[in-house]
Amino acid sequence: MRKKYNIAIVGATGVVGQMMIQILLERDFPISNLYLLASERSDGKKITVKGKTFKVEVLDGFNFNGVDIAMFSAGGDISKKYANLAIKNNAIVIDNTSFFRYEKNIPLIIPEVNGNKLGEYKETGIIANPNCSTIQMVVAINPIHNVSKIKRINVCTYQAVSGSGNLAIDELEKQVHAFVNNEPLINNVYPKQIAFNVIPQIDKFMDNGYTKEEMKMVWETKKILDENIEVNATAVRVPVFYGHSEAVHLELEKKITAKKVKDILSDEGSGVVLIDGYEDGNYPCAANECEASNDVYVGRIREDISTKFGINMWVVSNNIRKGAAYNSIQIAELLIKDYL
Ligand code: A2P
Repeated sequence: MRKKYNIAIVGATGVVGQMMIQILLERDFPISNLYLLASERSDGKKITVKGKTFKVEVLDGFNFNGVDIAMFSAGGDISKKYANLAIKNNAIVIDNTSFFRYEKNIPLIIPEVNGNKLGEYKETGIIANPNCSTIQMVVAINPIHNVSKIKRINVCTYQAVSGSGNLAIDELEKQVHAFVNNEPLINNVYPKQIAFNVIPQIDKFMDNGYTKEEMKMVWETKKILDENIEVNATAVRVPVFYGHSEAVHLELEKKITAKKVKDILSDEGSGVVLIDGYEDGNYPCAANECEASNDVYVGRIREDISTKFGINMWVVSNNIRKGAAYNSIQIAELLIKDYL
């Protein structure tokens, strides 16, 4: 009989946590017990996904004994405080926050790119899930890097509000209503209005003038793909509910044509879906492609006319699925296939 596993989701009432439950069910993950954990505010709350109802328990005081895999997505402070408790009870932690990502001995995994590094989790019991913007970009450029080394990336992101959680989705919705009704707009999550606006700040500012989200793309691309790749990022929040978009500009070691890049990415094993024609609407968009898809979409592939070995592309993916929950569940699937 197929072996089944005890799974805990920390932050189960959040945007990512709920998607984790949904994807576990969609993919028929072999679950024995599913523990849904959140704060005291959610104690006893019922969550219904795909017709199945689950009861939420409080994380504080929860006994991790017997849990095989604990997926954390409740913010870095919660991972800092409770991940060790899970490990001490022999659970393997898949952490969706940035808290452990830059630790040398903790693998940072995108299964289709560096799944071969997963075994390194044995040292600490922790696997880190990369940042959403990094995941979709690295999935899209990895097949190109395998053919012609990427020297430098210049990337601008257009990121959906769901990346900041339920309160941010609510804030955009309320501001749109307030705007059309001529009422004052209230900002709680973002420093400026997000309705009908574009905000060039995601996460906090660092000493070098970049934001932490931008630096995450630098640090994580190097750790996952190649230490030698230089990354320059500008991360922007836009009034989109689900799906991050990215304008990615690559500088390669040697020339490859746009046609060759399209051939590479249209290969079945490339891990991306190509929507690319030089005609109206023949490119991926967040509101059209992202709703229920775990895929990374690429379009607008062209040679950079301002430099010798440059390629430009447009990359779109559901930030809550491939950017967070689905990637974590792919990691869990690889874990049970090869290690548990
Ligand atoms: P809760 O709903 O009980 O506050 P979001 O994606 O909306 O930002 O969700 C964040 C997730 O992190 C929610 O599931 C939230 O639970 C959870 N969370 C926040 N603080 C705590 C805490 N102190 N203990 C456990 N879970 C927490």
